[in-house]
Amino acid sequence: MFTVIQEMPINATHEAMVVGVFEKEPLFSGIVAKWNEQLNGQLMELVNEGDLSPKKKHVSKVHTLGQMNIKRLYFVGLGKESELTFELLREAFGKLFKTVKGAAWSEVAVALDTFTTERIDANDAAHALSEAFTLATYQFAGYKQKGKEQEKKIEQLTVYTTADQEEVEASLFVGSVYGRATNSARMLVNTPSNLLTASALADYAVKLAKKYSFEYEVLEKAEMEKLGMGAFLAVNQGSVEPPKMIVLKYQGKETWEHVIGLVGKGVTFDTGGYSIKPKDGIVGMKTDMAGAAAVLGAMEIIGELRPEQNVIAVIPATDNMISGGAFKPDDVVTSMSGKTIEVTNTDAEGRLILADAITYAKQQGANYLIDVATLTGGVIIALGAHTTGAMTNNEALFEQVLEAAAETGEFIWRLPITEKDKERVRSSAIADLNNSPGREGHAIMGAAFLAEFAEDTPWVHLDIAGTSVTTKEHDLGPAGATGVMVRTLATLIERFEP
Ligand code: BES
Ligand code: ZN
Ligand code: ZN
Repeated sequence: MFTVIQEMPINATHEAMVVGVFEKEPLFSGIVAKWNEQLNGQLMELVNEGDLSPKKKHVSKVHTLGQMNIKRLYFVGLGKESELTFELLREAFGKLFKTVKGAAWSEVAVALDTFTTERIDANDAAHALSEAFTLATYQFAGYKQKGKEQEKKIEQLTVYTTADQEEVEASLFVGSVYGRATNSARMLVNTPSNLLTASALADYAVKLAKKYSFEYEVLEKAEMEKLGMGAFLAVNQGSVEPPKMIVLKYQGKETWEHVIGLVGKGVTFDTGGYSIKPKDGIVGMKTDMAGAAAVLGAMEIIGELRPEQNVIAVIPATDNMISGGAFKPDDVVTSMSGKTIEVTNTDAEGRLILADAITYAKQQGANYLIDVATLTGGVIIALGAHTTGAMTNNEALFEQVLEAAAETGEFIWRLPITEKDKERVRSSAIADLNNSPGREGHAIMGAAFLAEFAEDTPWVHLDIAGTSVTTKEHDLGPAGATGVMVRTLATLIERFEP
């Protein structure tokens, strides 16, 4: 797939060559200046006439019409050199591969050194390149009888760089691991709930565990009953699909200490239960397991790259259905922690299943907790569809998550949990907690509820209800599931400092 070559021969022959251009004087230098000469200055003419631009993410294609061995040149505008970020570079590459997609040829070369700056070295650029390539060309296979004509794909990327060949190869590999794992999460989220039941999700996780030699267990209903997971079990009560508590352990340190717990909401379909969703609000609820998918995606990266960290993934998986046996508003349930919960809204089910998952993760030794969940519609109202809501009980852990998110370009923004908010979730007249104490600050209420179970363990909650799917195609993928937080979680774990 990737070939790294250290010197570009003057007669290099390719279907396409990709070149980065910055807004600077001279616009073309080195090999590109030579090509401009070879083409009798016509590249510069295209610049003057506005066909070729160094502006941010401007992709221009130039056909060399037999005047060069390289058939096509793709210029990727990068803006001002001092302003280029890792994130922008990845998006620019994404846009490039979207432009190239569906071409009748299957090979592209990249002049990697034209994409580097003082801040972004060849390894960063290689990571951005392969990650963007993997993400931008993702397509959900779907279920149409008559599949689309098998689209031609780019199968060979030749990377020219003067940097260390082995290091660049390694960076290309890491970028493609990040991209592939994100695509795995996208695939899970895009899969309808009749095909991705809690059992199917557990099977997927077990396969992953076997592939990467993780320790694993899948708790069945009877075991959960013994453990007293009354909050999780209540949500499953109306379903014919058995619940699964999926647990994967990765030990990258000598001893089981400084354990990071990743907890992902795995509601395979959310009808709302008896607090039923309206007919428009229910469509799309197959994606209510995007938190689980993010955690599994991160575990895939961990399995491939094997960082020196200890990680436990805990995924409570069930659907939230209606039947004669389903839980109801006004029910009181007892969680594994012993805390009792008055259910005032069966559609606030995510926090119920996560409560027991958090308690279980702590019991299994998690010293830090990150939960990822499509928890509230409220976060979409508060922050929109491009920013994940973050809430925490620990500044230092939050800072690490924030840094990881900045690096991956997956924006997060913090919302507060005040003492008043905590009082509200404790406001039930008949139980310790109320799972839905009113309309105000939904996203915060969800977090304040989870905080009761994290207790003193450093914890960050990521509400991805707005960011887990997108209605529009974007530089790094199609409409549908985004695979959000896979890369942020993996980056956090790779860099984590206790
Ligand atoms: N799964 C939903 C949240 C959601 C909404 C995800 C839209 C993706 C898109 C969650 O279980 C839910 O229904 N939350 C309620 C909470 C409320 C009842 C306190 C909500 O946000 O309305
Ligand atoms: Zn719900
Ligand atoms: Zn839900």
